[in-house]
Amino acid sequence: MRTERAYDYAEHVIRRKNLVEAVKQTHADRTQGVIVLFAGFEPECSRFLQESSFFYYTGICEPGVALIIDLQGSTTLYVPNCGSVRAKWVAAPLELTQKNSAILGVDRVEHLGQQCTGYQIHPFFPRHEYEQIIEALGAVVARGGSMFTLTPDTPHQYIEQRLLLERLKVFIPNLTERLVDISPLVAHMRRIKSAHELEQMYQAIGITALAQEAAAKAIAEGVNECEVQASLEYMMTGSCAHPSFPSIVASGPNSTVLHYTVNNRAMKAGDLVVVDIGAEYEHYCADITRTYPVSGTFTPRQRELYELVLATQEYIAGLAKPGMWLSNKEHPEESLNHLAKKYLADKGYGNYFPHGIGHFLGLDVHDVGDATRPLQTGDVITIEPGIYIPEEGIGIRIEDNYWIIDDGVVCLSEDIPKHPHDIEMLVKESLEAGSDQVN
Ligand code: GLY
Ligand code: MN
Repeated sequence: MRTERAYDYAEHVIRRKNLVEAVKQTHADRTQGVIVLFAGFEPECSRFLQESSFFYYTGICEPGVALIIDLQGSTTLYVPNCGSVRAKWVAAPLELTQKNSAILGVDRVEHLGQQCTGYQIHPFFPRHEYEQIIEALGAVVARGGSMFTLTPDTPHQYIEQRLLLERLKVFIPNLTERLVDISPLVAHMRRIKSAHELEQMYQAIGITALAQEAAAKAIAEGVNECEVQASLEYMMTGSCAHPSFPSIVASGPNSTVLHYTVNNRAMKAGDLVVVDIGAEYEHYCADITRTYPVSGTFTPRQRELYELVLATQEYIAGLAKPGMWLSNKEHPEESLNHLAKKYLADKGYGNYFPHGIGHFLGLDVHDVGDATRPLQTGDVITIEPGIYIPEEGIGIRIEDNYWIIDDGVVCLSEDIPKHPHDIEMLVKESLEAGSDQVN
């Protein structure tokens, strides 16, 4: 866990200033109002990870918090009023109090409302727990101001924040008409990674490299997929990281199931194993896939297909640069997704690549960002072609993480072996070491 006193909140303060400017420019017709960002809520019995956009603009890792920014840039942090009881349950490296406001880079720290019942708050809160922020937002709405917040019209984004807004609507008349969705602006800002963010992503990728190596070394005939998972996740946990999504260790027929996470099959000689994993370190994610032969050697057919997947990745990485699109059906000749599909279709495998070529990567594994806006310098994307042939029990995916620069890409994960010979050597080394021990 990071030590909050040493943590530098300055970059978050700059992002908020940029957000205020972006909101003012985009919504120049709305001169009255506030930007409101809500933290995520703590699950009862699983790990809390801060909602990514709240983290991006605050650096604060506590649940249930809210930030109001007025259009002059003045900030008020609203924190749950849990009293001293919270400290008995969870560790908070820095108290979110007025005395620490300068460290946090905010102007004021207030309570959300009256004392809450336990040590946590929830989106279906009783009114008194949110009384103060209800009054503050109610006053904005009463004077005809807007509330700029994250309320997209999509099925899957910002779910807790939208539940919370639904609850606030019960207590703040006319709130619905005052809501303005800023999720496209936020997504646009989050796409461009700063030098500090790239450093964090390099760390996550470095840990994932260790995990891939551990996976390769654990692979052998008779070993269960879950044992490979345990070996690779050991490297993440031992590096103060967590899996950024459920680890995929998919062998034999399972390798053709794109998001297979059951991980309970004993691997057989001749199988391929798709290992699609990523470490999340200090909020930033990696997402890297390698495909290994259980016996340490690809069959001629597996190798032919593996080389084709690798060639597809190299072809697409050679085309990726600002101005191209991740996916845009209006411009198929400049859309990496369409170009990858065409490349594989021309080789006879058009029906065997059912997913997209990649996605943005950052605070979320499938990071925010509109894939139909062209790539720009500073984006980080994955390029992850695959071929899946269920009738042959063969699935192959190769995925790396790329930083878009002015004239192309930098592969951030280039040190992780992927050429067929290197992949074979990695698996063989440990198989040979294992057989030496037996003899
Ligand atoms: N690594 C899983 C995915 O990108 O969907
Ligand atoms: Mn991916």
